[in-house]
This record gives sequence, C-alpha cells and structure tokens, in this order.
Amino acid sequence: MSIQAERQYGYFDDAHREYVITEPKTPYPWINYLGDTAFFSLLSNTGGGYSFYKDAKFRRLTRYRYNNVPVDTGGKYFYIKDGDVAWSPGWKPMRTPLDKYECRHGMGYSRITGEKNGLRSSVLFFVPRNEDIEIQQMTLTNLSDEIKTIKVFSLVEWCLWNAEDDMTNFQRNFSTGQVEVKDSVIYHKTEYRERRNHYAFYSVNQKVDGFDTDRDGFLGEHNGFDTPAVVDKGESNYSIAHGWSPVASHYLEIILAPGEVKELIFTLGYVEMPEDQKWEEPGIINKSKARDMIDRFNSVDQVHLAFRELKDYWDHLLNKYIVTTDDPRLNRGVNIWNQYQNMVTFNMSRSASYFESGIGRGMGFRDSNQDLIGFVHLVPERARQRILDIAATQFEDGSAYHQYQPLTKRGNAAIGGNFNDDPMWLVQAVTVYLKETGDFSILDESVPFDNDENNCATLFEHLGRSFNFVTRNLGEHGLPLIGRADWNDCLNLNCFSMEPNESFQTTENREGGRAESVMIAGQFVLFGNDYVELCRYRDQHEEAERASGHIDAMIEAIKKHGWDGEWFLRAYDAFGKKIGTHEAEESKIFIESQGFCTMAGVGLKEGLVSKSLDSVNKYLACDYGIVLNYPAFTRYYVEYGEISTYPQGYKENGGIFCHNNPWIMIGETVQGNGDRAFEYYTKIAPAYQDDKVRLHKTEPYVYAQMIAGKEAATPGQAKNSWLTGTAAWNYVAITQAILGIKPQYDGLQVDPCIPKAWTHYSVVRQFRDVTYHIDIFNPKSVSKGVTSVVVDGEPITGNILPMFEPGTEHRVTVTMG
Ligand code: GLC
Ligand code: GLC
Repeated sequence: MSIQAERQYGYFDDAHREYVITEPKTPYPWINYLGDTAFFSLLSNTGGGYSFYKDAKFRRLTRYRYNNVPVDTGGKYFYIKDGDVAWSPGWKPMRTPLDKYECRHGMGYSRITGEKNGLRSSVLFFVPRNEDIEIQQMTLTNLSDEIKTIKVFSLVEWCLWNAEDDMTNFQRNFSTGQVEVKDSVIYHKTEYRERRNHYAFYSVNQKVDGFDTDRDGFLGEHNGFDTPAVVDKGESNYSIAHGWSPVASHYLEIILAPGEVKELIFTLGYVEMPEDQKWEEPGIINKSKARDMIDRFNSVDQVHLAFRELKDYWDHLLNKYIVTTDDPRLNRGVNIWNQYQNMVTFNMSRSASYFESGIGRGMGFRDSNQDLIGFVHLVPERARQRILDIAATQFEDGSAYHQYQPLTKRGNAAIGGNFNDDPMWLVQAVTVYLKETGDFSILDESVPFDNDENNCATLFEHLGRSFNFVTRNLGEHGLPLIGRADWNDCLNLNCFSMEPNESFQTTENREGGRAESVMIAGQFVLFGNDYVELCRYRDQHEEAERASGHIDAMIEAIKKHGWDGEWFLRAYDAFGKKIGTHEAEESKIFIESQGFCTMAGVGLKEGLVSKSLDSVNKYLACDYGIVLNYPAFTRYYVEYGEISTYPQGYKENGGIFCHNNPWIMIGETVQGNGDRAFEYYTKIAPAYQDDKVRLHKTEPYVYAQMIAGKEAATPGQAKNSWLTGTAAWNYVAITQAILGIKPQYDGLQVDPCIPKAWTHYSVVRQFRDVTYHIDIFNPKSVSKGVTSVVVDGEPITGNILPMFEPGTEHRVTVTMG
C-alpha cells in the first residue's frame, strides 16, 4: 500500500540519485536547485522557477510570480507546435495533456521529458561547475514513422534585477527595460546604461527563425503564458522591448525524419564587465564575454563533458559518508537526499525557496551557523570562509547582527540584533568545523567586529566574546536574558505589541527586558562545554577553568529555577512568571528547553533527562513528529508575542517544527535510548513518509520546516520545504548520534546508539583524507556501548579510531555489547 501511494506521483531512483516524478499535477510544485556557488536556479517539476546570481534579491535574472494563480507562474518555458497541436514538454504552461511525462530531479540537475503525438522532448537543465550559466539541453526525438516539421518556442521573462523593486515600482520600471538581439542571442541590458556593470543573455546554438523580446509582443495583450499569441499564430513577432516587460523567446523550425534525434542547446547566462570595457560602441554592449561563455557550451560534447563533471563532483561529495543498512529508506536519506539538502541550505540560508521569496531574508547568523554543521564534511573550505564571514558580523560585545546580505556580507541593520541565542551558535559551528578538519589555523585568523577592518580580533577571541555575552546577560534567576527572542523567533517576551503593523522580530516595547530563556541556558551548557573542551585542547587551562565555573553555575540555575517537576521550564516572562509549566493553562510544555537541556545532559544523574524525555514522549510526540508546545495557545497573549498569533497546530504554536525534533533524538541518545531516537527519526525523515505523500504535500525527498501538528485542522500537512535547519540537524542526529560516527579532535569516534533490533550495519567515512570502512555488529541486541574495536586486524583501546596517512584506507570492526 505504501509503495502504491507513493507511486501516485513518483518514486526514488537511488541508483541514479534521482527522484522521478511521473505526474505533473503534484500536490504542490516539487522543485530542485541548480547551481552551487554563484549562479542559482530554482526549477519546479513543470518548468517553473527563476534564476539569480549570488543574491536572490539584488541580482534576480528572471521573473517569478510568487503566490500567483495557477500556483507556480513564471519559469523556463518551452512551447512545441506540431501540426495544430501545441504543448509544453513540462506540461506547463500550456497544460495540454501529454501522452507521457517525467521529471527527474537529481543532484544539481533536472530532466523534464514530455511526449505527445509521437514526438518526445527531453530537456536537461543544469548549471555547470564554476560557470555563471544555465544549460537547457533539449533533445527532440521523432518517435513516429512520419516526417515531422515542428516549431519550437522558448520563453523566459527578465526580472529587472532588484526583485523587490521589480514587483512594486512600476511607475519607473515600465520605462527602463532594454534589450539587444544579435544572431541567436537575446541580451537583457536594463540599467546597464547607468550604474550596473552586468547583463544577462539567453541563447540557442542554432540560427533562429524568429524571436521576441517584448512580453506583449509574445503573449499578445490579453493572454497568459498558457496561450501565447505567437504560438497560436505559429511565428514570431520580432518584437523589441522598450520598457514594459522584456522577455526572451527564440523560435526555431525543426524537421525530423522518422526516428531522428536533434539537439538544441539553450543557455541563460550572467555577465559582469569592467567599467572601461562595458561598451562595444556607444549604446551597444560589449558581448565578448557572453560569446566566450556561449562558445564553451555550443556542442553536445561540451555539454556532456560539463554534465559529467557535475556528476563526478557529486560522486566525490557523497562518497564521504555512506551507510549501508537493510533499510533502503535510511540509506537514501543519509547517503543522498539529506546531504543534498544540506548543500542547498548552506547555499541559500533562508533566502530563496517556494516559501521564501528571496527578497526578505539574507543569511541568518543562527541559521547559517547551524546549516554548516551538516555541510562541513562536504566542502570544508567553503565552510571555513562562511565561518569567517559570519563572525565578521559579530559585535564587540559578542552579540550579532541577526542577518547579513550575501552580496555585501554586511550585517542587515533593518533587522538588527538582540536575539540572545545568536552568539553561542558560532561556538558550535567553529568547534564542529575544527573536529571535522583539524584546521586550527582558522582560530588565529583576524576577524573584524561589525565588518570594521580597523577593529579585529582572532576568531578564537570571537568565541570568547560569544561565551561572555551570555555570562554578562543573565537575569534574576541566573538564566540568560532572552532579548528579542531565542531560537524561537516567535517567543517575543519583551515585545508587547498591540499594533498589527509592528514586526514581532524588531519591536521591543518593554524596556529593561527581564525575560529569561531556559533554552539559551541549555544551549550555553552544551556549546559552552565545547568551548571548554577546545580551550583545554589548546592548553588554555585558565580560560577553561573560568568557563567551566560559569557552566556549573548555569547548570545549578537550571536545576533550581528551570525545572518544573516533570520537564524543563521554557522561560520566564517579562514579569518574572514561568512559561512552560504545569501550572499554566496553555502551553504547559515546550520542546526547545527539553532538547537543549537533555542534549547537554543537565541533571542526567538525578533523572531529569529521562523525566524530561518521557514528558516529551507523553505530551509532545504524535504520529507525524514532535510538536513544539502543548496544548497550543488558543488566543493572542500580548506578553508572549508572535507564537500565540498562529492558529493551533501551525508553525511555532503547536506545529511540528522539524528543526527541533533532532534535538530530542540526540537527547534520547544521551541516555542511551536508541529505539526512541530512531523512531523519532522515522517520523519526520522524508524517505519514510511514502504512505503520506498526498497529505504531506511538499516534496517527498526533502525536509520541510513545519508539519501541521496534532492540534491543527490538517495534521500531517507540511509547509516550507527545503530551507530549514532541520536538514543539518537531522543529518547530525542520524549520522553522529544514532549511527555513531563522531568526528573528535583526535580522530573519528565510533559510539552508536541504535535500535536494539539492529544486528549489523556499515559506514564508509572519509575523514581528513583517510577512508574508514567501518562494520558495526550488535550481537547482544543493545542500543549503546562498544566492547571492541579492531582496526586493520589489531584491537585498539577505546573507540576513537587512529589517524593515518592521507589517502589510505582502513578496515574497522566494531562490536557492541
Ligand atoms: C525559522 C528561522 C529560524 C528560527 C525558527 C524558529 O526557521 O529561520 O532562525 O530559529 O524559524 O522560530
Ligand atoms: C516568523 C516565522 C518564523 C520565522 C520568522 C522569521 O516569525 O514564524 O518561523 O523564523 O518569521 O522572520
């Protein structure tokens, strides 16, 4: 039954690392991401989406209409006219019923295939490595036994670069659009005449039979993308855009003998020119760079080579951690899709998805630090740079801008700071990076405060500032002050807003900010201990002692003022009143403080960890995952802020906020409960939801930020897929806490916490350029505990694998018991 339900829309093809969509009418657009460094595209299973260069707000190349009808309007569209019948190979925008449809989303590429009346069109979309160009390779096959003369039209609609301005400032924008057409290339040069040094182009590797560059010229004044006048007429209008809405459309007439295959290569590129080389002659843009780019991808061979390179790159990345168990869902989650999503969240932070418009949010300080923990093993050099960029937005007192803009790398003053959990995430990211790479040189890098090059300190000093920020901002119970909010953006305890136009995130109406957070307290213990470990490792014993003292005090404060009897409290509000207590009428228990305090092992010996986790299981866990708080707020509480604005069961008010579920999984492993840890994993891991695809709605291959909780009207329905800290944290929970392969300063540690019923699994792990083939046996059906470790035939003491010469491979046998 589960397989059937899944196959209603598609299936996993693990051998190719693809998800294959077989029905264009998915419950929501199911998208993929192309590109991984500078040029990015979002592409849905029906060809919707857009491209941008580095920054989804300031360098948007093509236009997209968020929240339009029908959903997913705007994209990389093709129209084929074969006799009187016109259709789109991705089904949209024409929506002519197809004889066959398939979309394969793979690692950095998608292939969308449509068949109609004996003609197949298959378009491979990808962004080659280190190129600012999207390739669209269209393969046309005549499957019939007659000669076919067909007409192919392409279409993209340009965005006038600043995506926010583009959809608001029409009095200006309808007069600025400019294009050039030369040979088969359409150039978008709006604002190039003034301060921009960049343009875009859309090209095809064959002489065109026509073109259009004005939207009305292509569609006709009264039509939508589904009924372009040009396609109806069967020829282009040769329109040149002057303002209004510039587009790029090629028209090609193709003759195909029976069985014949023809290839067209479309390229969508972005070019920057030095100021003194902008023009070829007055008013005519210098196209040399664009020509070079187009020439690099002019032939099928060149495209194949670039595609091979992309595939090889992903092979190389995904060879770094491979688990083999009897359960294909676990294998595909860990080995393919979770790591892929980690790359995407690392690249995008929370900026551009089908739920994030790409105009509102830059890179989050806390988000990007956390994204890094699931990414660092993939491309450590990029993680290193990211850490330095993030740390440079920290203030001298250890606090931080909550967000920064990726293009400028400057802190975003409009959002400001004062989210008091922010500082400690830096400690987590840096220690995780160090354990993975052993690259301690990063700690000596000189890093500015607030991007001021005249005010720098070592990265190590930045970590100290993070730590001290917390110790200097404690409240009356000795717990950390919450500021505007902690990890939960919506628990706004100093906001007190009665004005609907105020932002909960930036408003602080109550001066003095008495409110305290038990979540930050747990976070401080957990990552503070990482800081202490690092200090000791670096022989900074005095600093380690000093820091330990603060951590001990925090643990005492949590036990004394942060414990409710059966679980950890969540916070104290601005009046010093408890939040997350059995005494309350609503929201008696919250997940975040249970997660952080149990991961940190606060009160482990006294049984607090196990009590807390049992309460989570009893009150928060449900069929679809673990909800954030229970019972959800049924009305607005001015003293709690945005959390109580959401109807029950959604988002931060009783939703399954997937990001924090792995905290509980990891907490369970702290007390050795592998069965419950893994059960929670399967509740939200996408590969395990194959019987709920329709209900779930969003892509079955990636995590969503939120699944409607048990008190919602639509429990089990997911929203906000792709860009969520869920990806990185779940990856850490499953690969490190459960499967037990943990990078440490001195080597790779093997410390599993698994379901008792597992008897054997294996992991291949590349760690600091050494490959470990690890077999783990569980003859006594335990969850935790390692009795012997044999490396290359020799038993070792302890469970930390020795380090070896780079490039070598080693066999490890681990026996649990
Ligand atoms: C969103 C934010 C993240 C925050 C979470 C909980 O996912 O990106 O920073 O922690 O919501 O409010
Ligand atoms: C809203 C969302 C929260 C998100 C925040 C970011 O509060 O509920 O998840 O982190 O907006 O601005």
